Parts: sequence; structure tokens; C-alpha cells
Amino acid sequence: MTEPTPDLDTPLHAQLRAATKLPHHVLDHHPLLAPLLRPDPRLDDYAAALAALHGVYAVAEAAMLDFLASRPDLFDYAARRKLPALEADLVALGHPGRPVTMAGETLPPPANVGELVGMLYTIEGSTRGGRFIYKQLRQGLGDAAPLGFFAGYGDASDQRWQEFWQFATDRCPPEEFADAVRTAVHLFGVIKSHLDRCHAVEG
Ligand code: HEM
Repeated sequence: MTEPTPDLDTPLHAQLRAATKLPHHVLDHHPLLAPLLRPDPRLDDYAAALAALHGVYAVAEAAMLDFLASRPDLFDYAARRKLPALEADLVALGHPGRPVTMAGETLPPPANVGELVGMLYTIEGSTRGGRFIYKQLRQGLGDAAPLGFFAGYGDASDQRWQEFWQFATDRCPPEEFADAVRTAVHLFGVIKSHLDRCHAVEG
């Protein structure tokens, strides 16, 4: 068995992190998500953020699972799906109507492992920030609030992140690093456009 790779030490991670630093800053200050970090978060802001994120995870998870259907032994994303918890939270919140879907944005399935890694980086990485949001929301909304999506992998978070990096290190060839970076940056952009549109509808 190989030693686990320290996640921050790989050149691929350094490239992904550098390329998505600004787009991430835009997301974590987005008017739909920023209210979740207030000391007194409101339940309706939380429900609006989840409904908007629903479109993101529905489309991104479908794209990744589509690619993995033809390569089932590559990576077990099915065990990491976040949409069921997100939908259960929306139901528990009694969010009215259908969750917002990602209208107008296309996200083709990855064409190679590099593109898959770019998507996985974005989606798995969002669980890192999600833990932070979870702690804020739990403090502000209380233990009874439905927080399954933001709870993410709970105590297994670091291990899941490490396992993703082990996969990326083992399976993403250097000639596909640029594909990973381009795909991650594109997905951040797609998420921003989608949140902008949801915010315009909300507002
Ligand atoms: C859909 C929206 C979001 C996406 C796609 C996203 C994506 C990511 C990614 C890819 C990482 C990993 C960075 C790395 O270590 O290489 C990350 C980490 C992080 N994100 Fe986000 N993020 C999102 C929303 C947010 C929001 C709203 C916050 C608000 C505070 C946030 C806070 C953080 C924090 C604090 C980390 C670092 C966690 C750690 O080092 O353990 N993120 N996010």
C-alpha cells in the first residue's frame, strides 16, 4: 500500500488552487451564500441558498456519473453524492415549489480523467468550505435545523479529501493537468452564473 499523499504538496493541487483562488473569492462573497456566514443567519436565506445550490449539484453530479458509468472502477463518486442530503434538507425546510434547476448552463460530461479531476476538485473542495458554513449555521440556527448537506462527510472530511487527492495523484497524468485546471475554472464560472441568475429571480 502506498503512503497517503499530503494533499497540499502536489503540483496539480497547487495549480488548481492558484487558478481558482479569485473565482472562489467571488463565490464565498456571493450575495446568495454570504448571508450563511452572518452571526444570525435566517432560515429563509438558508433555504434560498440551498435551492440555488441544488441546480449546481444536480448538473455536476450527473456529468461526473455519466463519465464514470463507462469507467466504473475509476472512482466511486456514487458513494459521495451530495444531492440526496441537499434534497432532504429542502424537504425538511418545506421549501416551496421545485428546487431551482440550472437553466441555460450546460456542463458536458468530462472527456478524460483530467477533466473529471477538475470537476471533482471543485465539488469535493466545496465540502471543505461547507464544514465551515455548517458550524456557523449550527451555531446560528440550532441543532434542530436540517443541515445534512453542509454537514458533508462529518468527521470523515479530511480522510475523504485525502482519498480524492490520492486518486488524482495516481490517475491524472501530467499532460492532463491543464484540462483539470480549465475544467475547474469553467465550473466555478458556471456556478457563479447560476447563482447570479437565482439571485436575480429571488431579488
Ligand atoms: C459552491 C460554492 C463553493 C465552491 C465550489 C467552493 C470550492 C472550494 C474548493 C475547491 C476548496 C478547496 C481549496 C483547496 O484547498 O484547494 C474550498 C475550500 C474552502 N472554502 Fe469553498 N467553495 C464554495 C463556497 C464557499 C463558501 C460560501 C465559503 C464561505 C466561507 C467557502 C469557504 C471555504 C473555506 C474556508 C475553505 C478552506 C477549508 C480548509 O482549508 O479546510 N467556500 N472551497
